[in-house]
Amino acid sequence: MNKRDFVSLADYAREEIWELLHTAKQLKIAHRAGQERPVLRHKTLAMIFQKPSLRTRVSFEVGMTQLGGHAIYLAPGDIRLGERETTEDIAKVLSRYCDGIMARVFGHEIVEELARHASVPVINGLSDREHPCQILGDLLTVWERKGRIEGLKLAWVGDGNNVCHSWLQAAPKLGMSLSVATPAGFEPLPEIVEYARQFGSVELTHDPVEAVRGADVVYTDVWASMGQEAEAEQRRRVFRPFRVNRELMKHAHPDAIVMHCLPAHYDEEIAHEVAHGPQSVIFDQAENRLHAQKGLLVLLLR
Ligand code: CP
Ligand code: NVA
Repeated sequence: MNKRDFVSLADYAREEIWELLHTAKQLKIAHRAGQERPVLRHKTLAMIFQKPSLRTRVSFEVGMTQLGGHAIYLAPGDIRLGERETTEDIAKVLSRYCDGIMARVFGHEIVEELARHASVPVINGLSDREHPCQILGDLLTVWERKGRIEGLKLAWVGDGNNVCHSWLQAAPKLGMSLSVATPAGFEPLPEIVEYARQFGSVELTHDPVEAVRGADVVYTDVWASMGQEAEAEQRRRVFRPFRVNRELMKHAHPDAIVMHCLPAHYDEEIAHEVAHGPQSVIFDQAENRLHAQKGLLVLLLR
């Protein structure tokens, strides 16, 4: 039993991330040229969701279809993970039917537990701690738009959350420097910052202008993630100075791109005119979720 999971970008070396990106790029080119081959014919991906989704659900399902396979959507109420039956039993049962499991969960330990007990590859489709599939698509987007990844500066503005954590686990390995601006008390987890600093430069600040200064990429995400709805009002007050708007973008490199994983709140973390303006690549990011995950599915499931 020689399976590989994709639970965390901390488990992937620089060369392996690049292999995923090159595979994704080839698949994107083949798809656009109408030359795609059904390399995952008769393969089935089970998709477990404890939280809502647009991009993750649709891009994985479309990706499996385009590769000749099939995906099964298991909505939050369908299997009631950990409530109707144990995570261990779900992992073992799905492994008897399916060729892979993708899971969007609350606790990161749930996706780790699935991976431990499944005999097929397990993919993290977002946990409270990490969102590795998002960063795979985002790296493809940065590479396409900038022609390189190495030597670029990314400014993270907002909450030190799951998406920020996955950036920290990948970007310094690929030679990107990170400057992370959060309100005090909302910094990324210290152990993930420490991990990232083994590979490259990571600055933490509470000043969004300082983070954005000279940045090639400006990235933001919601102030209250899924599961933090009760804190939304309090967070809105604390995060107000961390809004990505035209004023803040003046401090970035003139050719900087603006990124957001979506869904966005246009009256909060990002101004609509910036998200839909000439520097924005948010819909490329959304599209590249598809191509990046197809690369992942081919490498893990074939
Ligand atoms: N970016 C992202 O993961 O979107 P969804 O929550 O819609 O899947
Ligand atoms: N940080 C956000 C990302 C959504 C794709 C959340 O976890 O809700």
